[in-house]
This record gives sequence, C-alpha cells and structure tokens, in this order.
Amino acid sequence: MKDSLRDRSKPRSRQMNRNPQPLFQPKQHDLPSINLQPMKTQIQLPILLLLLLQIACKQEVTDPLSTTYSPERSLKEAADFPVGLATQTWMLDMPQYSEILDTEFNSLTAEYEMKQNITHAGDGSYDWSATDQLLAYARDRDIRVHGHALLWHQAIAPWLEQFQGTDEAFADHVRTYIQEAVRRHADDVTSWDVVNEAFDDKGIWRNSLFLQRMGEDYVAQCFQWANEADSSVLLFYNDYGMIWDEDKLNAMLAMIDDFRNRGIAIHGVGLQMHIAYNWPNISHIQRAVDALVERDLLIHFSEVDIRVNPNGNRDHFTEKMAIDQQQRVEEIVHLYQSIPAHLQFGITFWGLRDTDSWLLGFWGNPDWPLLFDEQYRYKLAHKGFVEAL
Ligand code: XIL
Repeated sequence: MKDSLRDRSKPRSRQMNRNPQPLFQPKQHDLPSINLQPMKTQIQLPILLLLLLQIACKQEVTDPLSTTYSPERSLKEAADFPVGLATQTWMLDMPQYSEILDTEFNSLTAEYEMKQNITHAGDGSYDWSATDQLLAYARDRDIRVHGHALLWHQAIAPWLEQFQGTDEAFADHVRTYIQEAVRRHADDVTSWDVVNEAFDDKGIWRNSLFLQRMGEDYVAQCFQWANEADSSVLLFYNDYGMIWDEDKLNAMLAMIDDFRNRGIAIHGVGLQMHIAYNWPNISHIQRAVDALVERDLLIHFSEVDIRVNPNGNRDHFTEKMAIDQQQRVEEIVHLYQSIPAHLQFGITFWGLRDTDSWLLGFWGNPDWPLLFDEQYRYKLAHKGFVEAL
C-alpha cells in the first residue's frame, strides 16, 4: 500500500515542518484537461467521442446532489455528548463558516494556534492573541474549549528548541510554560491535551527533545505541573495509533496505570481518529475503547477525519466514496454511543470542509475527509453521524 497507513513513523510534513502553519490547498479540479486539437482524420472521431463520454461520466459521479443532502438535525442536536470542531481563528470571520459552526458544534479546539510554537514567544514572553480571539468567540456562544496541546514534539517553541542551557533549566521552562498556559486560561478552557504523541510506533517512548532533556518521567511531570496550576481542569493524554497498534495501546495503558499508582492526575484519553473508510478494523477501535472504559477514563474521539482516497490514486469524489464515508461515520458514532455516558467527553472533527483538511498537505493526495464540501454543502457523512443517534 502506497504511503502505508500503518507507517506513521515517517510522515512527510511532520518531518519537514516543525513550525506548522495552516494548510491551504487549491481546489482539486475533477475534469481531465483535454487539448482538443482540430481533427486531422476521420479515424480520430471515435477517440473524441470516447473522451467526451469520459468527461460526461465524471460529471455524473461528481454531481454534488449524489454526495450531499439536506439535514433535518444538526450534529449537536442529535448527540447527547459534545461535538467539537478544530478551527483556525481567521476562519471564524467567514459568515458561512461561523454560521455552520454555531449550528452544528458545541466544542472548539484550536487546530494549531494554542500550541507552544505559536504562543510561547520567548523566555517569559507569550503571544496569546489568537488564543484570546478563539476564547472570546467561544465565550460569546457558550461553546466549550478543549485546549490542544501543551506539549507536542512537532510544535516546540523555536527558542526553546534551540535552548543551550542545562537540562534542569530546560525542564523549568517547560514547567513555567505549562503552568502559565493552564492558569491564564483556567476560566475558559475546560480541558487540555497535556502531552500529545509521546509514544512512537510500537509503544516506544518517542525520542523527542522532551525525552532527551527530561527523561522518561517527563509526561508524568507535565501532568503534575498542569494539575498544580489548576486542579479542576481536565487533563488528557492524546495520541494516534492506539486504535490500530496494540503494543502502543498497551504502553499507554501501562503509563496510565503507573500514574494512577502514583496518584498523578489524568482524567481522559484522546484517541486521534485519523482513519480511513476501510481502516482500521472497528474491533481494534473497540479494543482501545474497552480498555479506557475499564479504567474509568473520559474518552475523546479527537481529530476525526475519514480518508476516502487512502491509496492516493483517485482524483475526484464519487457517490460510492460518499456512501462508504457515511457508513464509516455511522459505525464510529455507534461505537462512541455505546460508551457509558459519563465517560463520553465528545467527538471532535479535525476541520469543517474537505478543503480545510490538514491531510491534503500531509499526504499530498486529494481527499475528501470531512463532513462538508468546499461549498459548505452537507455531505452524506453528516447524515451518517446524525442517523447513528
Ligand atoms: C495539525 C494541524 O491540523 C495543522 O494545521 C498544523 O499545521 C499541524 O498540526 N495530530 C495532532 C494535531 O495532534 O495537532 C495535528 O494538527 C494533526 C496530527
């Protein structure tokens, strides 16, 4: 399989881009570009007809009427649990975007603007401008904010990444940052992803700067520091892979059990749901959910997007893809609904429109992974969500 879904250890853009910025992709045009030259011989007529037929067929399968629908209920009306959206503040100024956000979602996450590389400008200096804009938007509408993420190896403040001081001084900067962020937003942020993606594939500690500078206990320390700063904020560990890699799942569970034995506060786990219509197997998602339920942890299906072009060989969205995606969303939401209500922290979609998705830049392929198309039309995936409930 090209770009094997399982090989998350070598993502292209993660390795190249240590200061992630919003990803904007041009619209993928569906029609093949055909240069219609004057016909020199009659023999070319059948070829022309064939090409015209191909174009007609493509127009037929991409007809938005076959991949979209008119909703009767919004996501948040249908769900008993919070339904979240990852957003970028400039998008909040677009009337159509904000109208859908207000109608459909009751939880918000900053897609990248509350990460340390954006907010921690220097030793003792912070830039909370985007954070404040997002928090004000949410406050005005009574929308919950889930903070993402205090520590992520892909979003370390550049000055800290280059910090030449001792390991103790490095750890001290991490503590100061965590406590500043948590304290400053204690009234507005319900929950934080304290550490994001601390494990590598197969459940080995990721060899990040944090591991190198602070040692294996750094995750526990960060949770303790966050808890000291605000004992009422909900603290999450967030990662991908637990829903398909059993070793990684077990490593995370061992970490949580160890936290519990040592009295270190952890309230929930974010299972990043970057999935495809046909992968991973639902039983593997169930396995992770069961293990978390057993431990009485809040469960967040965080970062949901559903690829329909995982092999990267399709250039337009078809009715079949729309239906496959609808069924997949339905399956995931069904599973989520089976979680005891008090452990349902919510389901968060990683972007609104297909063209907003980070995946386009990450994999470099066309895909249509979200619930709305570029024109804000409701895709069948939305129907899958609502009808599962
Ligand atoms: C991504 C955002 O979507 C991009 O806009 C940003 O440039 C890079 O980060 N796992 C995570 C998220 O936990 O923070 C990542 O978000 C996607 C992968």
